[in-house]
Amino acid sequence: MNPDLSSLRGSPFVALRTLLDPLQPQSNLTPLALTIGEPQNQPPDLMKSVLEETDHLYGKYPPGDGTKEQRQAITDWLNRRFDLPEDMILENKHITPVNGTKEALYMVAQVITARVSGSNEKPVILLPNPYYHVYYAAAVMAGAEPVLLNANRDHNFFPDLTALTPDLLDRCSAFYLCSPSNPQGTIAGRTYLQEALALARRHDFVLIMDECYTEIYDQEAPTGILELCRDEGGSVERVLSFHSLSKRSSAAGLRSGFIAGDEKITRALLNLRNFAGAASPLPVCAAAAALWQDDAHVALNRSRYRTNIDIAEKHLGGRFGFYRPPGGFFLWLDVGDGVEVTKKLWTEAAIRVLPGEYLSVTDETGFNPGAQYIRVALVFDSEMMEEALSRMANVL
Ligand SMILES: Cc1ncc(COP(=O)(O)O)c(C=O)c1O
Repeated sequence: MNPDLSSLRGSPFVALRTLLDPLQPQSNLTPLALTIGEPQNQPPDLMKSVLEETDHLYGKYPPGDGTKEQRQAITDWLNRRFDLPEDMILENKHITPVNGTKEALYMVAQVITARVSGSNEKPVILLPNPYYHVYYAAAVMAGAEPVLLNANRDHNFFPDLTALTPDLLDRCSAFYLCSPSNPQGTIAGRTYLQEALALARRHDFVLIMDECYTEIYDQEAPTGILELCRDEGGSVERVLSFHSLSKRSSAAGLRSGFIAGDEKITRALLNLRNFAGAASPLPVCAAAAALWQDDAHVALNRSRYRTNIDIAEKHLGGRFGFYRPPGGFFLWLDVGDGVEVTKKLWTEAAIRVLPGEYLSVTDETGFNPGAQYIRVALVFDSEMMEEALSRMANVL
């Protein structure tokens, strides 16, 4: 069975260029792009010094599973961050380093979802709506049916788990969830995660938790899915947790992250990556190990994002359904018509934001949960954020 390539949805950033490139800002203001979730802080000096110290290793083919030092640093970070017992996550069983989580989020659907040739009933992959666009492509290319679950404000911007029927859950091979959520920046609570985990185990699907924003939070550190596994005896069966240095260490260009969890799947992904993935160069593995060992630069990053949220609150508080995002670094503003406001902000304030509907699909009732919103990335330094947010507040 060949997946239906025509049903792949395009990148939201390509759609944005199509929308805005024909339009010109009316003023000479410097254009500012608050579209992509790319931290503009510099990565810590630590990264640069380790890359320099190890640059003689670029000549070597890198191992597909990273280095033991890197996997151990990752395991130590998981244990520290989520207060896990030492023997729960083992570096040689439960961890697969990946070169950025994007590809891994895509590839993992291939190893989980069997293609059922000739069957009328495709397996289902559940994802939130709005969603990170890779989940959708992953489901389609794995030969599964992507089923989008609206994530509305009245459910803390997470899918309503009580609305899922046993029939649907029995067809499900994987469920992508993201906490802190992108684009809304909300955090899944313990009870919610507990329910999601119970469903995965009851209906035999894999819970794929995209936790790449877990280190960026306003007040309380988000609960990770591995904490729930710990509380339930320590088994990580049917659970995967995805983490990245892109947001944590402002190192999106390093392309380094990992997945942790179910041994069968982390091993299968490793195997697939040995055929079809690019391994991280050894200097990158060494830099990744150093970054996972260090928490000080992350605390500094967090405080910068808090400052940016303070600035956003000063300019936009009380308007457009503003709330301080408990996690991540996006504002999700209810502006009424996301596409129109995006055009207005570009032409009148030279600011680029992302319309919410480019991150979501219209459901069978004609409702698109992103249509009213814009996503605003608070990724610049405080001076630029002050400039951008005051321009936005003036124009809106
Ligand atoms: C929700 C979410 N998941 C995963 C990623 C992928 O991050 P990376 O491939 O840099 O680890 C991103 C990047 O923007 C993201 O927003």
